[in-house]
Amino acid sequence: MIEATGTLPPASPALWRDRIETPAVLIDLDIVERNIARCQKHCDELGLAVRPHIKTHKLPLLAYAQLAAGAVGVTAQKIGEAEVMAAAGITDIFISYNIVGAKKLDRLRQLAQAAQLTVTADSLDVVSGLATAFVDAPRPLNVLVECDTGMHRCGVATPEAAVELALQVHAAAGLHFAGLMTYPAPGAGTGAMAWLGAAARLCRDAGLSVEVVSSGGTPDLYRFRSEPAVNEYRPGSYIYNDRSLLASEACEEIDCALTVAATVISVPAADRAIVDAGSKILTSDLLGLDGYGFALGRSDISIPQLNEEHGHLQLTGDGPALVVGQTLRIIPNHACVVSNMVDHVHLVRGEHYVRQESVAARGKVL
Ligand SMILES: Cc1ncc(COP(=O)(O)O)c(C=O)c1O
Repeated sequence: MIEATGTLPPASPALWRDRIETPAVLIDLDIVERNIARCQKHCDELGLAVRPHIKTHKLPLLAYAQLAAGAVGVTAQKIGEAEVMAAAGITDIFISYNIVGAKKLDRLRQLAQAAQLTVTADSLDVVSGLATAFVDAPRPLNVLVECDTGMHRCGVATPEAAVELALQVHAAAGLHFAGLMTYPAPGAGTGAMAWLGAAARLCRDAGLSVEVVSSGGTPDLYRFRSEPAVNEYRPGSYIYNDRSLLASEACEEIDCALTVAATVISVPAADRAIVDAGSKILTSDLLGLDGYGFALGRSDISIPQLNEEHGHLQLTGDGPALVVGQTLRIIPNHACVVSNMVDHVHLVRGEHYVRQESVAARGKVL
């Protein structure tokens, strides 16, 4: 059952070690609550609306907690993720993705009956598809023009191209030009903001109203300073954090809410051990790092290799020996992809068990 109030459930007297089978994904709600509150306070102080990306947790329960803390709505990457959030009763959803193809456009039109939707567009092809699908819709579809401010993924390449496309959106029956968005390259801060500021000015000079200018990304969240060019922020990973964010000093170990609990199943040599968590749960995502995770409290351990069901641990010899049957908790390189690997996660508070939660929006590739 979802607590639509946003209140997260309390701990039970039981210890999680007595309740779970490994490998398992643990989510510490005490840390989640701290991370949500810290981000919301930071953005409130900067005058930024918060629209968290649910791709990190894929859990309606945590989306409600983010909304209860003050988020204006949620962000999803796929229509399938947005469908899960809408089915859970969330009514303001930004799908930060170009929706292309007749079947997807049909689903988008359908979904727009259940929630206030916003999508991106970065070409006339995308705008034309959206316009055809929404030409006779009961309410117009909000569209943000996606701007490539340095990530070199999707997005129009110049502020001039942004206003040109914004005018096409504005002219299309069934569409409402709502503003601009970017997913900046980590560390791109000032340049990306100047880019957006120039694009918004050009839009206003062309007579358009620019309601939303949305940026995002956890690596720069707490380095982000008040910037008149932007009025919305879309952080995702901040709710769990992970080893990549530890490496970029965007968080500390105590801020990492998601861990993979793994059992030592073999100790073939004093400097080597094998755990039951491999790439099926930790994933092969390196994000530019060496190794596949960080074992909590064990800086003497590295994880240089994974097979699907085996995690290879290397020990420096500076820590205690590992024994078969022992449980370790591993902070993965990238929390979002780990959420996508499991049917359910185990909610905990410290050492205490809360309950199992279905990862309702996992595996939504469509
Ligand atoms: C479009 C968009 N916005 C926001 C985010 C959230 O980024 P982060 O997880 O770094 O906070 C992502 C992450 O992939 C994204 O693709």
